[in-house]
Amino acid sequence: MENAIEVSSLSKYFGEIRAVDGISFQVKKSELFGFLGPNGAGKTTTQRMLTGILKPNSGTIHIMGFDLFKHPSDAKMLMGVVPEMANPYIDLSAWDNLMLMGELYGVPKRKRKQKAMELLEIFSLQDRKNQKTKGFSKGMKQRLILAMALIHEPELLFLDEPTSGLDVQSARLIRNLVRELNSNDTTVFLTTHNIEEANQMCARVAIINSGKIAAIDRPENLRNTIQSLQSVEVTFAKAINDLESLQTIENVSEIRKEGDKLRLYTDKPGDVACQLVEYAKAHELQVLSLNTLGPSLEDVFVHLTDTKGEQNAS
Ligand SMILES: Nc1ncnc2c1ncn2[C@@H]1O[C@H](COP(=O)(O)OP(=O)(O)OP(=O)(O)O)[C@@H](O)[C@H]1O
Ligand SMILES: [Mg+2]
Repeated sequence: MENAIEVSSLSKYFGEIRAVDGISFQVKKSELFGFLGPNGAGKTTTQRMLTGILKPNSGTIHIMGFDLFKHPSDAKMLMGVVPEMANPYIDLSAWDNLMLMGELYGVPKRKRKQKAMELLEIFSLQDRKNQKTKGFSKGMKQRLILAMALIHEPELLFLDEPTSGLDVQSARLIRNLVRELNSNDTTVFLTTHNIEEANQMCARVAIINSGKIAAIDRPENLRNTIQSLQSVEVTFAKAINDLESLQTIENVSEIRKEGDKLRLYTDKPGDVACQLVEYAKAHELQVLSLNTLGPSLEDVFVHLTDTKGEQNAS
């Protein structure tokens, strides 16, 4: 068995809303798999079904070979879960929260104490060990929630927007820890709407939109699917306010101003770069930077989620 998660024809309806609409996919063992989609796409609903909290209307789920509906406790023992908007028990200390979670997962007392000490240190929470979590900041709470999800050393970790709303340092700490866990063979299912996070972290990404999977592939391959979204990015020493004059450059489908840069979309980036140099000469403009760019994952995401939205609406 090489798959950690196998999902087949999974659906969940809330009345008229098809929150998850017949999705199928596999996550390989030891993979860091991204589940990316806009707000309301069905990400949390999917994670809640995969972790046995929500019953689907139809479909099957296998976790490390276990049928989740036939062997729920076997499957659940293998999972660590960070739900969306989770909170530790606020009247308990960090330590007691960890002990409680360890007990729930049946981790022997000595082992859970040892693991809890280790986790508090990894998550820089040693100083707060005996403090009630009521007074914890959002970032501290989130680190504790992740520590709690790891107390039984799960093989498979589910994370629903683990860095959402955190500052750069806290988000980076969590990302680095998740990467490290993954490099030590923990399979990770990372739900996110943060495209850059998915791009940086995930070996493969599923893009979900309106309850359906629009694409599954490596971020690199997803970017390559849309050649028309290649572009040339140029910065001139002097800002050009009159974009009209750039219309003379051929093979450009769209020109966008992005900060101090101009981005020209084209399927012939080399050609457009040459024309830009000519343009700069003719207009006595100094070129500060000139780059050809492949489509970003954001471009692909917008392309996939926009067109699908239109199809659904029509
Ligand atoms: N318990 C519920 N009752 C009714 N509708 C629900 C329920 N949970 C989710 N939905 C609906 O299902 C759809 C998918 O919601 P879901 O929370 O899975 O989206 P999401 O991708 O996690 O979005 P976000 O990025 O905002 O977290 C939405 O239309 C939502 O309103
Ligand atoms: Mg969600």
